[in-house]
Amino acid sequence: GMATGNKLRHVESLQEMPSGAGKISCLNAVILGEALASEENDLVFPSDDFARQAHVSSPQQYLEMYKRSVEDPAGFWSDIASEFYWKQKWDQPVCSENFDFRKGNISIQWFKGGLTNICYNCLDRNIESGNADKIAIYWEGNDLGVEDSLTYAQLLDRVCQLANYLKAIGVKKGDAVVIYLPMLMELPIAMLACARIGAVHSVVFAGFSSESLAQRILDCKPKVVITCNAVKRGAKAIHLKDIVDAALVDSAKNGISDFVPKYPPTCEVEWVDAEDPLFLLYTSGSTGKPKGVLHTTGGYMVYTATTFKYAFDYKPSDIYWCTADCGWITGHSYVTYGPLLNGASVVVFEGAPTYPDAGRCWDIVDKFKVTIFYTAPTLYVTRYSRKSLRVLGSVGEPINPSAWRWFFNVVGNSRCPISDTWWQTETGGFMITPLPGAWPLKPGSATFPFFGVQPVIVDEKGVEIEGECSGYLCVKSSWPGAFRTLYGDHERYETTYFKPFAGYYFTGDGCSRSNGQKIADGLHPCFRDKDGYHWLTGRVDDVINVSGHRIGTAEVESALVSHPKCAEAAVVGVEHEVKGQGIYAFITLVEGEPYSEELRKSLILTVRKQIGAFAAPDKIHWAPGLPKTRSGKIMRRILRKIASRQLDELGDTSTLAEPHVVEQLIELADR
Ligand code: PRX
Repeated sequence: GMATGNKLRHVESLQEMPSGAGKISCLNAVILGEALASEENDLVFPSDDFARQAHVSSPQQYLEMYKRSVEDPAGFWSDIASEFYWKQKWDQPVCSENFDFRKGNISIQWFKGGLTNICYNCLDRNIESGNADKIAIYWEGNDLGVEDSLTYAQLLDRVCQLANYLKAIGVKKGDAVVIYLPMLMELPIAMLACARIGAVHSVVFAGFSSESLAQRILDCKPKVVITCNAVKRGAKAIHLKDIVDAALVDSAKNGISDFVPKYPPTCEVEWVDAEDPLFLLYTSGSTGKPKGVLHTTGGYMVYTATTFKYAFDYKPSDIYWCTADCGWITGHSYVTYGPLLNGASVVVFEGAPTYPDAGRCWDIVDKFKVTIFYTAPTLYVTRYSRKSLRVLGSVGEPINPSAWRWFFNVVGNSRCPISDTWWQTETGGFMITPLPGAWPLKPGSATFPFFGVQPVIVDEKGVEIEGECSGYLCVKSSWPGAFRTLYGDHERYETTYFKPFAGYYFTGDGCSRSNGQKIADGLHPCFRDKDGYHWLTGRVDDVINVSGHRIGTAEVESALVSHPKCAEAAVVGVEHEVKGQGIYAFITLVEGEPYSEELRKSLILTVRKQIGAFAAPDKIHWAPGLPKTRSGKIMRRILRKIASRQLDELGDTSTLAEPHVVEQLIELADR
């Protein structure tokens, strides 16, 4: 097993750390061999066999690479970038950045002046190097027995056909294309086809309603919307084309092609600048409408490929399955681009992990002999062998130590290291993640920063804190996969991410360095412990994560108040056994309106219609009034405590404009 027999080797190697490395603040820990040894009960060591074959097999090796990546980012990343195909090498400094708004506009560039194409690098390059007949995609349909696969050569044909079709209907370099598809092979095909011709894709998760789709279409003004007639998810059919038709009416457009004819299977590549946009992906913030996170080509390519290779210790013989939908960033970076850039065989699954029953995931793992399995920490029990697995990955929400141990012991048979990858839509790829084989894991910790990433923990005033502490997680310099702007709103980009803490990118997450600690005011911090391991425990803003779907509470509130009988709404996240977080809505009705079950249902329906079923509130809590400060600000801290029934932790309520509303809310809690 992983946890026994090899501690000594690690502890010895930890004590042999080069002393200069200690200056890299967040790594102080790994060097403290003694500290690790004394805490060995928390540690899960990689087996000798695993470590021996790993890309990075010791803390020293990591530290040497990490040190170079932050001291000489240009050299480090250009060496890696050189493994890709560039029509023309970059002619400007490898990276340039301004992370400090006081010094002018925020700007990030990598490999500027270089000409490349990410589709070429995913497909043509791998085909030329002998992988034409390797399976690129194993597709497993929603219904049992429905399956398909494509080799790299076949995938290229399909991508080219669609690319030719898009060109024929007038899509040009720089044009936006919205993709609204379920997890068919056509979804990655459509992404790659856009990339091939330099079009900017914007995938909208097929669980979004027509109104959400319309909102995104209005924002990015695509030339084309790619969709399909209908999809089955579990036992239910969803008529996507009808939803698109409704959205196009809403956004006042017409001219819909509802089929993609067969076009020639070869298509010239459009060479694009490394800084030309690759895609837009809308994501939720704490306020306002969804933000169009913009990623460019070169840096994103290099970063997703490299993070994939190292965090999963990817080898050409692996079969890789990521359960995420391409409607979210995980599906962009780690279903499509990262794996295909590495020439991997990827399982794409259309369905729900519980259909026809809870064993479906393990059925698929066994069927395809999946070796790397990447998923959200919401899982189900098991009766399959899973012998093929060698690496597990987790993403999207903090995984608590007991869930971690279950994933490790049961799913991975105590044999497979877990890469708990912390990252965001904005970061493009993994930021804090284990490199399996390199160092011992701690259940529940995302451990250490990836190459080139310099996380810092700051206090409320934006002052960096060293050592064991809690605070806000920021990043102090750019990495190739960073997003470059919010589409059409660079000011919002600067205000949201770079102004809260001058000189840093602010993640919106808390971080801490002492296990279990929370900062005041009910915020969930990330922490870094005395060994330098990072513990992320959630957002510090009003963004919540429901079954891996990122939702702004403000969006749910605005859907709720659009209901004619709702006067005011306040939404908070609350712990949920299955979904990670659930949506808890406090509702004040218009004067004189009685509470009723019917009204409750109709409020929930309004949210389903405006955003999508995944954003439907789990709980409606009737609220005659909401706790507000004298200046009218809703005290969400108090609402969170009421929602989680931590009634003895309400804190000081005397500063409220109307303190009695708190008692009213408690009385109505179970109505
Ligand atoms: O709060 C963090 C949480 O998910 C947020 C990012 O959401 P999104 O942009 O939708 O991307 C999700 C997939 C990358 C983060 O701000 N999060 C993501 N990964 C982890 C996590 N929280 C704890 N541990 C993680 N491994």
